[in-house]
Formats: sequence, structure tokens, C-alpha cells
Amino acid sequence: MKQYSIAIDGPAGSGKSTVAKEIAKKLGILYVDTGAMYRTVGLYCIKNGIDLQQQSHIVSALKKIDMKIELSDGMQMIFLNGENVTQKIRTQEAGKAASAVAAILPVREKLVEIQRNLAKGHSVIMDGRDIGTNVLPDAAVKIYLNASVEQRTKRRCYELAMMGKTWDKKQIEQQIIQRDESDMNRKYHPLKKAEDAIEIDTSFMSIEEVVFKILNIVEEKIKKI
Ligand code: DC
Repeated sequence: MKQYSIAIDGPAGSGKSTVAKEIAKKLGILYVDTGAMYRTVGLYCIKNGIDLQQQSHIVSALKKIDMKIELSDGMQMIFLNGENVTQKIRTQEAGKAASAVAAILPVREKLVEIQRNLAKGHSVIMDGRDIGTNVLPDAAVKIYLNASVEQRTKRRCYELAMMGKTWDKKQIEQQIIQRDESDMNRKYHPLKKAEDAIEIDTSFMSIEEVVFKILNIVEEKIKKI
């Protein structure tokens, strides 16, 4: 079969990464989590005390960031200057820093180059915010996953509960709203649905239902390439 790409975009908490990992396993293709790359730049800034309001400082720091990505079996491992940071980037703080650095064009250019290289020569499913609109504009399948703020808040609270953490629902909701605001309204490659993307509202769907729906779409589209 010919090589193909699947682009999954959508706001934080819409279920992109869970669904994309599952589809990668089912189809035996590579899974690329682009949010992890922005989180890694964010983590570098946090660790090195770089002010997230100072764009020129972040751009200078880029030269000191060596990012390596290992892909296998629907999983992604990410290394920052030789350190495996796959788990360390999964904090609320790194997510917030990721959203801030993602607004800076040279950061995006550096990471988009890595992302396109990873997609070369393989069939991939890649998730993020600008995959269908910018990174892989020729992707055979483009999906825009969405869910209400209320449902995304509930999912995040559930995740925190599973990790044994305490939370404030109103605060979580505010963080989700703020993240949407910064990802959708930035100047360069903001989060938006590609014109040829299929939108799926996952608010009241199970993971299995979303995976099943996307697999059907993939089967239909891939037959044609
Ligand atoms: O998917 P995530 O929550 O791990 O992404 C973290 C942040 O990275 C997100 O708020 C915006 C940014 N991002 C982006 O701008 N473009 C992408 N393709 C992926 C993520």
C-alpha cells in the first residue's frame, strides 16, 4: 500500500493523543505527538529560568536545545540535550509554557522541520494544532477533534484524580479556556480546522467510538490513494 499521513488537530483535552496512539497501533503506523516538542522547549525555558514573556531570549535559547525523538510501536520518546523528558513534560506548567513558546515563529519553524522529517518515508498519524493546515497540508485524512469546555474539564479532573492529585474544577476550566484562547488567537499557525478536515465532536463519545469512526474514514480515503 502507498505511504499516507493522517493529521489530527484539536484543542487540549479533545482526546487527540489517546485516539491517535490507538489508531497508530491498529494500523501499524508511526505516531508523532507534536505537542510534546513544544512542551520540551517550554520545559527547557522553565529549567533555565528563561522569561516566557521575552521572545528574544527564547529564540536565543533555541540554539542550545538538542531535541531527539524516538518512535516505536505507537509510542514516542523525547530527549532534551540527552535527557529523557518524556514524563517530565506532562505537567500543567510545561503545557502552559508550551503554549507560550508555540506563539513564536522561529520556534515553530524549528519544530515543523523536525515534524516533516519524521513523516518522510513513513505512514504516520500526527497530532497537534496545525498539522492539517501547515505541517502536512497534503495529509490523506484530516480530522478535527472537538469537545465542549465542560467535558474537557471533566476529563482533566478525572485524569488528576487517577494520578491521586487534588484539583479545583473552576481553576481547571479557566486553564482550558486560557489555553484555547492562546492557541486559537496567536498570529502564526493558530489552531483551526483545515477546510478539508472532518470535524468530530467527542463530548459524548467513548474513545472506542472515536477510534472506530476515524478508522472508517481512513479506510474510505486510503482506498482512493
Ligand atoms: O497537545 P499539547 O497539550 O501537548 O500541546 C501543548 C501546546 O503546544 C499547545 O497548547 C499548543 C502547542 N502546540 C502547537 O502550537 N502546535 C502543535 N502542532 C502542537 C502543540
